[in-house]
Amino acid sequence: IADSTPPSELIDSWEALQAEVAPCTQCDLCKTRIQTVFGSGNKNAGWMFIGEGPGQSEDQQGLPFVGKAGQLLTEMLRAIGLDREEVFIANIVKCRPPANRDPTPVEIESCKPYLLRQLTLVKPKIIVVLGRVAAQALLNTDEPIGKLRGQIRALNGTPLVVVYHPAYLLRSLLDKRKAWADLKLAMQTVKNIKG
Ligand code: URA
Repeated sequence: IADSTPPSELIDSWEALQAEVAPCTQCDLCKTRIQTVFGSGNKNAGWMFIGEGPGQSEDQQGLPFVGKAGQLLTEMLRAIGLDREEVFIANIVKCRPPANRDPTPVEIESCKPYLLRQLTLVKPKIIVVLGRVAAQALLNTDEPIGKLRGQIRALNGTPLVVVYHPAYLLRSLLDKRKAWADLKLAMQTVKNIKG
């Protein structure tokens, strides 16, 4: 009888992934970063939040969403009854783009496999994608965020909801209501999942 357990070298691990990400030189962002920002939180989280890339504070501290946008993200999480520690937070690129410019398609494509491995390891019940850049990258589309938000989508079979980026919401108070609607949609989706 064949053993269905894959050999250990084929099973990914957090240790292996972290060891690869930390010294990564796959793209030019490695030349200007202070450090890689791997992601943080509960590695068995039901909720995974995915942002665009580290900003200055994140590059300095080595942690995602610790600046002003991060404070708003923490409030958004609280509004739906979640603590930062119980979710997993990561970014589409692990290194800060200079002057906080958008990551380029080349940078996104070279970094995306790390995020997809994180998703496979966390196995969240729901993915919340923050902002246009991450949403377009993960859904392989150039549709505007106004079209991507407001409905349940999926990534490799996991439900996914697109929400306006907290840095954008800091400037656009009117869209906070739409972000709240999207977070409620995410909550409802998790509630409807059995088990
Ligand atoms: N903005 C992001 O998209 N990610 C961070 O980690 C911080 C700010």
